[in-house]
Amino acid sequence: MKLKDKMEDTLKKAGVAFRFISLPENLPPDIASHAKFHNIKMENAMATILYRTEMGIIGAVKRADTQIDEKKLRRVAGVDQLTYATKNDLDALGVESGLVPYVGLDVPYFVDKKVLEIDQAYGTGGKKIMGMAMRAADMVKVNRGIVGDFTNFEKSKEMLRSGARHRLLSGITPSGDGSLHIGNYLGAVAQFIELAKTHECFLMVADLHALTTIQNREQLQKNTETLILNELSLLMGELGEALPNVTFFRQSDVPMHTELQSILNNVTPLGLIKRAHAYKDKLQGDAVEEDINMGLFSYPMLMAADILIYKPDLVPVGRDQKQHVEITRDIAERFNKIFKTNTFKLPEPYIPENVAVIMGTDGKRKMSKSLGNIISIFEPEEIIRKQVMGTYTDPTRIHATDPGHVEGNMVFHYLDFFGEIGKIDELKKLYTEGKVSDVEVKNYLYDSLMKTFAPARKMYQELKANPGKIKKILQEGAEKTRAVSSQTMKEVRDVIGLTNSYSFFDY
Ligand code: TRP
Repeated sequence: MKLKDKMEDTLKKAGVAFRFISLPENLPPDIASHAKFHNIKMENAMATILYRTEMGIIGAVKRADTQIDEKKLRRVAGVDQLTYATKNDLDALGVESGLVPYVGLDVPYFVDKKVLEIDQAYGTGGKKIMGMAMRAADMVKVNRGIVGDFTNFEKSKEMLRSGARHRLLSGITPSGDGSLHIGNYLGAVAQFIELAKTHECFLMVADLHALTTIQNREQLQKNTETLILNELSLLMGELGEALPNVTFFRQSDVPMHTELQSILNNVTPLGLIKRAHAYKDKLQGDAVEEDINMGLFSYPMLMAADILIYKPDLVPVGRDQKQHVEITRDIAERFNKIFKTNTFKLPEPYIPENVAVIMGTDGKRKMSKSLGNIISIFEPEEIIRKQVMGTYTDPTRIHATDPGHVEGNMVFHYLDFFGEIGKIDELKKLYTEGKVSDVEVKNYLYDSLMKTFAPARKMYQELKANPGKIKKILQEGAEKTRAVSSQTMKEVRDVIGLTNSYSFFDY
């Protein structure tokens, strides 16, 4: 039976009211974008995660504003083993990753207690173009109705709401070619900028991490330089040249990271790292395990060291990096337990929920340099104008007088971030009525981009002409981070017994 039929069947048998909702083809896959489309709160959006356990596959249904506490879920489900279901497991059930419905699969479903506190529950209908909704309370009537308490509200968001000043650390790897496009800006740098207004931020260019894929001297140098110039232009353009709360540095300028990595290796079981997505994804491709380089395998170890050495409260990252922060917490906990210390702080991953995945100008896939579907930030005006003019709009609209569609229209997708609210609403209305042309809307997008990035573009020219300014920032960044990380390393060396009566080493 088809998945959709199974879902309908299950719901009808239970006498539960529900509805399927069609979604535009190019709605980005993340929950935030879906919540925005349905005009609902994150708490009304359901995420279903399939786990592999010793009693088979189970499903866990949670609200998007909560996170699963695996220890609690183990207890609720009465299992010892709990790891994410593999691609094969998903295939066997006929579902796709990210599109697991909260009803209808032939697995025991565990529903988090907090789900029952809301009214309407939105989830996937099992296909990218299909959503569904029903009353949350009805979930106990289907799914064999196993309710348990196994989530926490996302701590990071509570911390940021508290108004206290926190320490944050994040990094960007100079892969690709190091240049940043509007997708990188919205997905990462804009968050750093916002957070740096009130918090202490350590921002790192993870050049050592780039070595997993870039093994060419010129290319690594060029990528790193490009990323530094791009990121600093954005940060300084918006926050001012002095970057008051920001410590900006290159990972390779602080050798303590790799020293700590080497120590942390010893408290980390192989199994924990084998579960890391980057490594697992590589294995799912055509890579042979024996040939995967140790740098890629131990990528999460270096990242754990990057983070723990600064004892940050929060680590702002994209969804794809969340698991790495969870591994980091696990390692910190193990270290602290083994050496009976509280040297390491357990950092919270922070994934801002309003950051939708930014789709490319083709309207099909995530914005990515290698797919050639980007809008640049620092390219010459003609190039950016061309990228904007080539953006996917509404293929069903042939004349400017035809009523157009705003949903799934990439120009409006970008305008939502860069335009002015009143003007966007006006254009959307006119567009739907067939009273404004694609070109006019695109011109407005182009102007909005130029306006948003004017300070950064100006700073870019300024920094490019004065490389000494960049060097100075990096030097200050290196001094500050070396001081902080040597302090942590002193504690670590002491607590594990590397210091002794014959020690003379000092950082
Ligand atoms: N792995 C991250 C990425 O590719 C970059 C990174 C390296 C990082 N070290 C980090 C991010 C520490 C946060 C914290 O995006």
